[in-house]
Amino acid sequence: MARLKVGVLISGRGSNLQALIDACADPDFPAEIALVLSNKADAYGLERARRAGIPAAVVSHRDYADKPGFEAAMDEALNAAGVELVCLAGFMRLLTSGFVERWHDKLINIHPSLLPAFKGLDTHARAIEASVRFTGCTVHFVRPAMDEGPIVLQAVVPILESDDSHSLADRVLVAEHRSYPLALKLIAEGRARVEGERVAISGSPTTASTTPSTAPEPLLNPPA
Ligand code: GAR
Repeated sequence: MARLKVGVLISGRGSNLQALIDACADPDFPAEIALVLSNKADAYGLERARRAGIPAAVVSHRDYADKPGFEAAMDEALNAAGVELVCLAGFMRLLTSGFVERWHDKLINIHPSLLPAFKGLDTHARAIEASVRFTGCTVHFVRPAMDEGPIVLQAVVPILESDDSHSLADRVLVAEHRSYPLALKLIAEGRARVEGERVAISGSPTTASTTPSTAPEPLLNPPA
């Protein structure tokens, strides 16, 4: 089976990129990374790509007069590499609706909160400040409005009394590293599809008729 060709856009550390690289190292994984693009020349994720032997390039927003010019350069590189799906992995530039629409249903993002709660930056500090008991991460298809779009997968992380934004970020990151490869797998296998602005998941036990006796136990925090 042909593997889905993925482009990954980064701006920094690239730990989610690493999770995707590790997943794609398995020849049975249904996707492969064809190109990594960074808008920053010093992004550590570029080093991760090089080490894995994956083509990587810098397209700096500073080299273009405007956003459409910057995005056209990214488009050109992605298309030249035969990319079929773009994964944003800590890519910290807002994309124009032109770019987002050109990659409609072919562009996904990971965000460190349970969307639609805590869009934007500083999600962990804001979740602690709001005294919510759970946070987590979301993988979603991208739409022009920031941190919006059909949700593929979420992972829940409890917020502990002892948490500060750093300890919480560390635990959410562990959840991100499990979530992004799993979401990519679902999409690459054709099991997660956008239907009417919702993502339908097929072929998983969650689509079987869920009777009260087989429904998952509710997660409580603090525990009962
Ligand atoms: C991740 O926590 C990711 O969810 C977040 O940036 C971090 C990147 O880390 N993305 C956003 O906040 C996008 N709105 P990484 O470079 O180690 O993958």
